[in-house]
Amino acid sequence: MSNRLQTKQFQDLDSQHHLHPFTTHQSLRATGPRVIVKGEGPYVFDSEGNRILDGMAGLWTTNIGYGRKELAQAAYDQIMELPFYNTFFKTTHPPVVLLARKLAELAPANLNQVFFGSSGSESNDTAIRLIRHYWVLKGEPKRRIIISRHNAYHGSTIASGSMGGMTHVHRHSYPMYEGFRHVMDPYWYGDSFDGETPEAFGLRAARAIEEEILRCGPENVAAFAGEPVQGAGGVKIAPDTYWPEAQRIINKYGILLLADEVITGFGRLGTWFASEHYGIRPNLITFAKAATSGYVPLSGVIVDDMIVEALMAENDDFNHGYTFSGHPVACAVALKNLEIMEQERLVPRVKETTGPALARMLERFKEHPLVGEVRSVGMMGAIELVADKKTRRRFDDPGRVGLICRDHFFQEGFIMRAVFDTMVCAPPLTWTDAQFDEAGAAIQKALDQTFADVKGEVTA
Ligand SMILES: Cc1ncc(COP(=O)(O)O)c(C=O)c1O
Repeated sequence: MSNRLQTKQFQDLDSQHHLHPFTTHQSLRATGPRVIVKGEGPYVFDSEGNRILDGMAGLWTTNIGYGRKELAQAAYDQIMELPFYNTFFKTTHPPVVLLARKLAELAPANLNQVFFGSSGSESNDTAIRLIRHYWVLKGEPKRRIIISRHNAYHGSTIASGSMGGMTHVHRHSYPMYEGFRHVMDPYWYGDSFDGETPEAFGLRAARAIEEEILRCGPENVAAFAGEPVQGAGGVKIAPDTYWPEAQRIINKYGILLLADEVITGFGRLGTWFASEHYGIRPNLITFAKAATSGYVPLSGVIVDDMIVEALMAENDDFNHGYTFSGHPVACAVALKNLEIMEQERLVPRVKETTGPALARMLERFKEHPLVGEVRSVGMMGAIELVADKKTRRRFDDPGRVGLICRDHFFQEGFIMRAVFDTMVCAPPLTWTDAQFDEAGAAIQKALDQTFADVKGEVTA
């Protein structure tokens, strides 16, 4: 059977039986999906035999790259020993205990207990329940509002989707779950006034949190939730002034801070958690994705001792949990994944070598006629495509040029994601000079080809 026949068969079956996440199904049916059949090191391979350099680590996930036998062995060993048992009804098992201890070791000092799930969305739902329950236990049940930001992505369940700030996500199950408010996101390139410095903009964006607290009445506000760097919203890196001011405001009103580290956790910014990078002091950290480098699903919330103490003081059930909370195979794989990250020094390497290499690679494209801004922090970065570099004018029909560019990347054997017309990347932390060179060459070609396609719309 030729590759083409196999590809066509998979595509037909896919369109007959498979509904995809965040997809326009009509256009997917017209083109058919790309069929990915294998991963090895920094590459994935499609059913046509094309080797593609994965600049997105799957989906901000495969931090140690593909095809690591040690993780397969850890899963195999655990399946043979104990493939599943639940953690309800006063039971536990060794992998969940050892992983919880390891995460407590890696997290900020005041976060020592972990509630597990299988996806980032679930972990954020858990965090929302913990936050609201905490305030009930503290005798302040009116504190229910959680403030988050426009364009934040916290997941796709009803509660995590409501906490997120993407209106296109809200559209599908409007009205969303109650009790969430959204304030401006710290997106200097897109939202600053003419001549406003990043520092001044960062303070203005942080103060939007205080304004919202006052609008709601501080006695009604339970928490602020934020991704240390907004990932799915377009790798929006807050100016240096943002988080210190946000933390000051959070402290001033005594509300909780939920750091959604589903993307930034496990080394992406060169620290185990990005909270450490920014010096923020969360009361809850949600994580998922790279905890297992995506080899099996696992997520969780790491919780402040103060919240745990409130739970302990209550002689009643916390009525929340998932069958797969602390799944033994997922925990065993996570432990091995973290061990490999430590052995290979992948986290400090982001600060010392890989992060600076990504920054240098992106910097090369600053002068390209299509590029308005390049930015990066650690191993996540973005290229803004604009119609006019000087005025930051966008292209008509946002997202159209991003998709053209994404397709050229694919043709060049490289994956970057398009968030409207912002091209984003988050490579595995294992990249070496060879991958940065390969990615740089692919980006150059893809940008040139995109420019050739839309030249008539670009102001020189
Ligand atoms: C910051 C953040 N939080 C939560 C989620 C949701 O995670 P999941 O897709 O595993 O439910 C994502 C997914 O990309 C994310 O980026």
